[in-house]
Amino acid sequence: MHPGVPCTGVVIVAAGSGTRLGFGVPKAFVPLGGEPMLAHAVRALAALPGRVAVAIAAPPADAARREIAQSTLTALAGDLGRERLVSASVVDGGASRYASVQAALAQLPEECDVILVHDAARALTPGALHERVAGAVRATGHGIVPGLPVVDTIKRVDDAERALETVDRAPLRAMQTPQGFPAAALRRAYERGSDADTDDAATFAAAGGTVEIIAGHEDAFKITTAHDHARAERELALRRGTAGELRVGIGSDIHAFDNESPCWLAGLYFPGEPGLSGHSDGDAASHALVDALLGAAGLGDIGSNFGTDDPRFANAHGEVFLQATRELLEAAGWRIRNAAVQVICRRPRFGDRTAEASARLGEVLGAPVSVSATTSDGLGFMADVSGGGVFALATALLQK
Ligand code: CTP
Ligand code: MG
Repeated sequence: MHPGVPCTGVVIVAAGSGTRLGFGVPKAFVPLGGEPMLAHAVRALAALPGRVAVAIAAPPADAARREIAQSTLTALAGDLGRERLVSASVVDGGASRYASVQAALAQLPEECDVILVHDAARALTPGALHERVAGAVRATGHGIVPGLPVVDTIKRVDDAERALETVDRAPLRAMQTPQGFPAAALRRAYERGSDADTDDAATFAAAGGTVEIIAGHEDAFKITTAHDHARAERELALRRGTAGELRVGIGSDIHAFDNESPCWLAGLYFPGEPGLSGHSDGDAASHALVDALLGAAGLGDIGSNFGTDDPRFANAHGEVFLQATRELLEAAGWRIRNAAVQVICRRPRFGDRTAEASARLGEVLGAPVSVSATTSDGLGFMADVSGGGVFALATALLQK
């Protein structure tokens, strides 16, 4: 791309420890939708027009995190095209946000006419906001900061947390990032600014610069607490269309009759009926349900999760498998919406016990379960009481 095309420099500060988030990991590297927050923040820069230079301030003396930061820049080079990414660097951040900005600023090339400073912690900031801020700096020559009106009533308090007066909120704005500035003026401001400044606009204004507010964006909120992080996960799931995702699964099972065992099927005991053979109690209906549930979630099947070498499942009733399956699904973020199982056999005779079985299995799974039973019209192993067995077929519906 022609060197005359304007170049936007971007500082991404990602060196904070994330104390208030409390994940025990530097905040910009906490996973969000399966990727570090920083990856989301950097990806949005692909929306900037013209040429772009990026410098990330990463946690100091942390080679592993530095490498992750580097890989987000490699991905950006792919999104932007190498000729548009003028330079990309990762530097050690400092003890304060101010020091981190200073360190990254020094890495941006002189040819940048505009510099944006952005918190990695505002991971879901839309690219369009970067574009609007950079455009407004070029149009006005001023510092440009996105802000949102304050919605809550604001009170000043004394040392004992007693309410003093209400502050008029009409002229108040909550500041976001990216904050954009004419490059040379920002560099001068940072040469003589102070660690006490909590944003770049304050440093710029202290050096005599004019700062204008433009409309911010709800998605540019800063992820500070665990609650903010959960909000970001929900927002991302909505964007990706994975929120509320539905999945179906199918499972089947066959167990042979075994006259030595008691008969358990679909969670019920059938006295006087031939039992079913197996490492567990042979409840083919429960096992078919387990396979349908695990299959819907993409979590394998009964054999891969509950091996015959696991003592928990020796002679275990179907409910034990169903309960363990429910826990696996819930841990993976799935909720069971409903399930159905049909048993095909000559014995035991279900008669009017299907409602009882539905209620029992529904209780274990915490969702409606329909149980039905039929025969095979005299055909196949399901019709043969001496050498045959029971066949069960199940479906399940899950929601993320
Ligand atoms: N930041 C930084 N260097 C620091 C402190 C903060 O680069 N020494 C960055 C953070 O990584 C974050 C942004 O500045 O992207 C805003 O800071 P904040 O939300 O306070 O993040 P943390 O300092 O990580 O969080 P906490 O204050 O809860 O520890
Ligand atoms: Mg902080």
